[in-house]
Amino acid sequence: MLTGCGHDVSPNVLVKKEKHFHDTDIHVVIDGIQVKDPTNDFLFEELIGNGSFGQVYKAKGLQTGELFAIKVTPFRSRDITPKQEVEIMQRIYHNNLMSPLAIYYWKQKLYICMDLCCPGALSNLYRKLGPFEENEIAFVAKEVLQGLQYLNDFGYMHRDIKSDNIIINEDGEVKITDFGLTGWIEDREDQKEPIGTPQWMAPEVSQAQEHGKGYSHNCDIWSLGITMIELAEARLPLQFDPPEAVYTFWSEQKASPQLNGNKEWSNSFQSFVQSALTMDPSMRPTAKELLKHKFNSQINITPFTNIFLDSEVTTG
Ligand SMILES: Nc1ncnc2c1ncn2[C@@H]1O[C@H](COP(=O)(O)OP(=O)(O)O)[C@@H](O)[C@H]1O
Ligand SMILES: [Mg+2]
Repeated sequence: MLTGCGHDVSPNVLVKKEKHFHDTDIHVVIDGIQVKDPTNDFLFEELIGNGSFGQVYKAKGLQTGELFAIKVTPFRSRDITPKQEVEIMQRIYHNNLMSPLAIYYWKQKLYICMDLCCPGALSNLYRKLGPFEENEIAFVAKEVLQGLQYLNDFGYMHRDIKSDNIIINEDGEVKITDFGLTGWIEDREDQKEPIGTPQWMAPEVSQAQEHGKGYSHNCDIWSLGITMIELAEARLPLQFDPPEAVYTFWSEQKASPQLNGNKEWSNSFQSFVQSALTMDPSMRPTAKELLKHKFNSQINITPFTNIFLDSEVTTG
């Protein structure tokens, strides 16, 4: 049993998917949620993130003037995804994973209030500033692996590791966010469909329906490998139109993407990426194993302290 947010909870609770309740009973369904209008407590300012499930707004606390990020997701009584996301966020507590500060439910919407992280998502950063340096990538890799190891120890896999879901705060700390697709490692039924974002998805996840075997937590390691190339080159190594074309691609293709050879990358970075992008999931390392790779000892303090000073870089 592990402790998250000050409560002793069993991760097994997650697999119980209650399907029948009234919206008025939301506080029974999601523990610790406040059923009240968030605009009584926050002034919603600009939209800073628009993902596939929700919108994230910058918001000012009306009492203190403090700034927050609030994720707003439509929520009706039968929706499982936002409910799981909130429950998982309430249970996990680690410096490399985003925690909720408060959760509200009001008029069929969930509001997840979090620390506002500036400069924000890695994808925003490379789109504005270009490719990352190798020492920056090494730092991100280590921090993400630490967060993933914690999630795995808890019995979860994230399933949507990508540059949009890894964010940096003003202290240069790296946080994994967006637990909307996070799954329970043992829940094989849940693994019969490809879940994640196609371009970052491990081959075995994209083939889940075809093979019907399920997959495991090292699917996140593949996605991290793709993200590392993405940061190094400021573009994705594999692009598909439509994105779902990746499913057929991996049924035919048997070679992993690689770092572009035009730039001088260290041997340890190349070997790290190669290891993360091991095609065979039974040979691919877990977060715990990959944390021992020498690439992770390259940098121990954040290289991101000055990014926030760049006025061009803001969230959104
Ligand atoms: N705490 C935060 N601080 C700053 N930006 C954030 C924060 N949380 C999310 N974002 C931004 O909002 C985007 C969407 O949030 P996310 O939780 O990933 O939603 P979705 O589930 O819709 O993808 C992220 O990619 C990021 O750019
Ligand atoms: Mg997201």
